[in-house]
Amino acid sequence: MTAQPDALISQQAISEEIEKIHADRRAGDDQPRLGFPPYRSTLLRHPTKELRHVDPEGAELVAPVFGHSDVGALESDLTIQRGGEPIGERILLRGRIVDGDGRPVRRQLVEIWQANAAGRYIHKGDQHPAPVDPHFSGVGRCLTDDDGCYSFTTIKPGPYPWRNHRNAWRPAHIHFSLFGTDFTQRMVTQMYFPSDPLFALDPILQSIPDQSARDRLIATYEHDLSQHEWLMGYRWDVVLTGSHTTPMEQKNDHV
Ligand SMILES: [Fe+2]
Repeated sequence: MTAQPDALISQQAISEEIEKIHADRRAGDDQPRLGFPPYRSTLLRHPTKELRHVDPEGAELVAPVFGHSDVGALESDLTIQRGGEPIGERILLRGRIVDGDGRPVRRQLVEIWQANAAGRYIHKGDQHPAPVDPHFSGVGRCLTDDDGCYSFTTIKPGPYPWRNHRNAWRPAHIHFSLFGTDFTQRMVTQMYFPSDPLFALDPILQSIPDQSARDRLIATYEHDLSQHEWLMGYRWDVVLTGSHTTPMEQKNDHV
């Protein structure tokens, strides 16, 4: 019997695969599994050999170097970048980048990219039938302040379909990239919004077997961050080391 094309595999079959893997999870299973069969494309592209360590000094010769003057204050406001107001729910997203002891990670470059309110990216790889918003690029960046805080004003992204299986939808999310002190320390992850009904169905979020680790990727609504008749506030902190480390991707494929 030949295998079914992925587009015909049902959500129920994918959910059963996820459940089986989670039932076998091990203690400390709190980072994404690189080869996670329900997330189909990981099967062919996840690393199967030991990672090769690059010479950090050599990498620095071609790596970007960011100083305070390189990142403009307006780059953290994705609602004013394109000469008009983007459609959607305006939000403020704020949080701290800290190490395992709660110490602030200062002057770190934080980059985000996301779909628009309709769930569409401005990217030739995204051609699904939802509108592009001419007033929304979906990318922003900032440096953390003395307290390790970052802050973005943006539009709440919509969920979007992908071709992992039949009727597959990604929960609304924002991609984050964090640079350490050099290019080789870049970390990439995704942040989600609370109470999304798609969490349990999503093979990417579920590739992290540990529930409490998955929860670390979910922002909280914070009423004190909301502004009267203007926007809703969300908070999401990132922990870089220790037992409460935020789960991070270890690949360059960001769906
Ligand atoms: Fe995405």
